[in-house]
Amino acid sequence: MSCYDDCVSLNFWFQLITMKGVLIIIAAYFLYFCKGASRTFNVQSNVLNDRPIIGVLSQEQSIYLHSKYPEENYTSYIAASYVKDIESAGARVVPILIGKDRRYYEELINKINGVFLPGGATFFNQSNGFADAGQHIYDIAKELNDAGDYFPIFGTCLGFELLIILASGRDKIENRIRCYSYNNLPLNFTRDYRSSKMFKETPRDIINILKTKDVTVNAHQFCIVDENLKSHNLTDDWRVTAHSNDEYNVEFIASIEHRRYPFYGVQFHPEKSAFEWKRSKNYPHSFEAVKANRYFMDFFVQECRKSRHSFASATEENRYIIYNYEPRFTGVLGSAYHQCYFFEPRGTVSYK
Ligand SMILES: *[C@@H]1O[C@H](CO)[C@@H](O)[C@H](O)[C@H]1NC(C)=O
Ligand SMILES: *[C@@H]1O[C@H](CO)[C@@H](O)[C@H](O)[C@H]1NC(C)=O
Ligand SMILES: *[C@@H]1O[C@H](CO)[C@@H](O)[C@H](O)[C@H]1NC(C)=O
Ligand SMILES: *[C@@H]1O[C@H](CO)[C@@H](O)[C@H](O)[C@H]1NC(C)=O
Repeated sequence: MSCYDDCVSLNFWFQLITMKGVLIIIAAYFLYFCKGASRTFNVQSNVLNDRPIIGVLSQEQSIYLHSKYPEENYTSYIAASYVKDIESAGARVVPILIGKDRRYYEELINKINGVFLPGGATFFNQSNGFADAGQHIYDIAKELNDAGDYFPIFGTCLGFELLIILASGRDKIENRIRCYSYNNLPLNFTRDYRSSKMFKETPRDIINILKTKDVTVNAHQFCIVDENLKSHNLTDDWRVTAHSNDEYNVEFIASIEHRRYPFYGVQFHPEKSAFEWKRSKNYPHSFEAVKANRYFMDFFVQECRKSRHSFASATEENRYIIYNYEPRFTGVLGSAYHQCYFFEPRGTVSYK
């Protein structure tokens, strides 16, 4: 039917329907429909923040890396693979320094949309270190979420262990056990993992890879096991979604989430598959491994899009953002990290 025919038939009907009331009803219907549609659109664009900025906590400079840059005396570092993994999921990164007072973390957290606690190798008992900074961040994030804000945290490996130890209370005896896992492993999901926040929307092909292929990179000598949650009354708050087995068949918690807060942890290293290349480590770099590991930061960054915090201006953003630092090529110096960011040359490194 041509437009001409259309107009003619409309005219025909308008001539037939002479009652104004009918026209008013039709007009009202279209007005309501258009308003409704635009309302839905506005709600969606209000809910998600498509410019998330995520804080990544730095960690005490390692003795090994210090030996590579002895003159600079850097205080802390971040392995660039964590930054790249977050950036590839559509967020920007701000480094969070260690050794600061609560006010520093509070101010920063109110500008950013989530915190990532990376893996690595440091003890939790060094004063003004990774764990003290983590404690401030954990306390502040809990307060914000309790007050109705939405502030996510994601911990990987050591960062995951730190989350659970903070939740347990930092006693003299840390709430984790010794274990040994330097393998690429599959995930053994718990029975109800599909109703968890982390896995309820995961595409089926990614679940199948995680379940059946050796794609999660493990590199840890401590584990959190179910018994650690039970002994510290954490099972009401924390929900285990997968386990893996270490080299002596100890079943450790591979992924976890808080039931009320948007706090998440994984014992394995999703960032290494695409971004770490040390040959002797045997990281899985296949299409499937990269694809499945990619999911975790996609998920976390989506969580951070629910946070409305922001810097006051683009100028302020630019002062904090990690682009102010240049990563160094540490892989060529023998480090397991291909690239690292270093912070604060203060001459305070005193490891011996
Ligand atoms: C920190 O913990 C490690 C491992 O438990 C221990 O070897 C070290 O002596 C502790 N350091 C301090 C300062 O307590
Ligand atoms: C997977 O976990 C279940 C319990 O959730 C356990 O019964 C089973 O033995 C585990 N499978 C492997 C291969 O470890
Ligand atoms: C766990 O809860 C039980 C019973 O309420 C209590 O006796 C115990 O002290 C709690 N343990 C810890 C580590 O909080
Ligand atoms: C780093 O420490 C070494 C040894 O203490 C010192 O000689 C050097 O001057 C320090 N470098 C800087 C930039 O502070």
